[in-house]
Amino acid sequence: MEKIIIHGGRRLAGQVQVSGAKNSALPLLFATLLAPGVHRLGNVPALRDIGTAERLLKAFGAQVDRQQNQCTVESTKIDSVEAPYDLVRTMRASVLALGPLLTRLGHARVSLPGGCAIGARPINLHLKGLEAMGARIELDHGYVEARAKRLKGAHIYLDVPTVGGTENLMMAAVLAQGTTVLDNAACEPEIVDLAEALRGMGAHIEGAGSDRIVVQGVDALRPMDFTVMPDRIEAGTFMVAAAITRGNVLVQGARAEHLEALICKLREAGAEVTEENRGIRVKGPRRLSSVNIRTSPHPGFPTDMQAQFMALMVLADGTSTISENVFENRFMHVCELQRMGADIAIEGGRATVRGVKSLLGAPVMATDLRASASLVLAGLAADNTTEVRRIYHLDRGYECLEEKFRQLGGRIERAVE
Ligand code: UD1
Repeated sequence: MEKIIIHGGRRLAGQVQVSGAKNSALPLLFATLLAPGVHRLGNVPALRDIGTAERLLKAFGAQVDRQQNQCTVESTKIDSVEAPYDLVRTMRASVLALGPLLTRLGHARVSLPGGCAIGARPINLHLKGLEAMGARIELDHGYVEARAKRLKGAHIYLDVPTVGGTENLMMAAVLAQGTTVLDNAACEPEIVDLAEALRGMGAHIEGAGSDRIVVQGVDALRPMDFTVMPDRIEAGTFMVAAAITRGNVLVQGARAEHLEALICKLREAGAEVTEENRGIRVKGPRRLSSVNIRTSPHPGFPTDMQAQFMALMVLADGTSTISENVFENRFMHVCELQRMGADIAIEGGRATVRGVKSLLGAPVMATDLRASASLVLAGLAADNTTEVRRIYHLDRGYECLEEKFRQLGGRIERAVE
């Protein structure tokens, strides 16, 4: 197994390029199932989760070719509608194949993803929405089996604005008969990216980015030629890295309109954040101030930045309260940060962080993708050496992480345990 070794205490400086967004590339790859032909996707990050999505597409019968960040999917012949457990269990987003397969081929069989480290994460709202569109859904030996001759437009209200649910139902609706209205839809930028790609394929979608999305079904779509948006969570991670190391970093490709909550909170904490024409520059203050955050669906503070922001607050003056409202059990980084000297108390979904003057490097273990990123950030700011183990989580979501930090002057390397 590999680990990351960080010799902390260096100010990061320079510029770094943000990769394509994992959470946008994944639904886009599954959207290629909606139309026969050759699809072209640019700015696809080279990540483990993307590799899993490609393996799934191949399992369905598609041909996939990736040259660096360009991905070509030929999806004319789809001869299997089964997403097997072995792939789904390594990546929950596999469930996004359900809507496209069902609406194009009338049948899909997708393994239930089960629990994951950050909570139960059910898919009941995906299934309820598909049922409202006329799908017959059965659970069989851990698989969801969905059938429908042709889905019918429906008015669907989502009890919570689920990102994956909104994407699955939007993809299902584009080839359904009639109009689908999704109320209380997720508003994340990745939804807007997917809607734009689908519109380029000939779909009729309005309102993506708001809480009401209206889809007018069409009979057929054409292949997509689309470029994935920049990864706002990767960008946010570098922005926090600049602040936590009192550095000065231009995060190239970061878009302020995707990162408003984080920008406000970084400024409140004392960082200087400026928009430049190629990205966002963050200068860390000499001393950080404590601020409170509450995670919530977009445009609220993203749950995917909670762990990284907590690492920042660990080194701030005063006490901050961090409330996690999207996922239960998303504080696994806390015990590891405590091993580095952080002062954090948890009560339910709320962490109280009392700032300390410095952190001390330690061997720590990554437990999920964003928790791992928070440990790397803490390691960059800590005295001495930090070793982050189980880094396969990081490889699911960060492209060339060590190289990018090295480019900014960080002393960080990968080694075999
Ligand atoms: C996506 C992101 C993930 C991010 C999350 C929230 C991808 C590949 N992943 O995950 O990085 O942390 O959005 O921004 O894009 N829920 C239900 N029933 C459902 C579906 C969801 O109750 O059918 C609940 C979940 O348990 C959770 C909340 O809704 O509490 C939000 O989950 P959701 O938005 O669906 O997250 P994902 O799409 O899985």
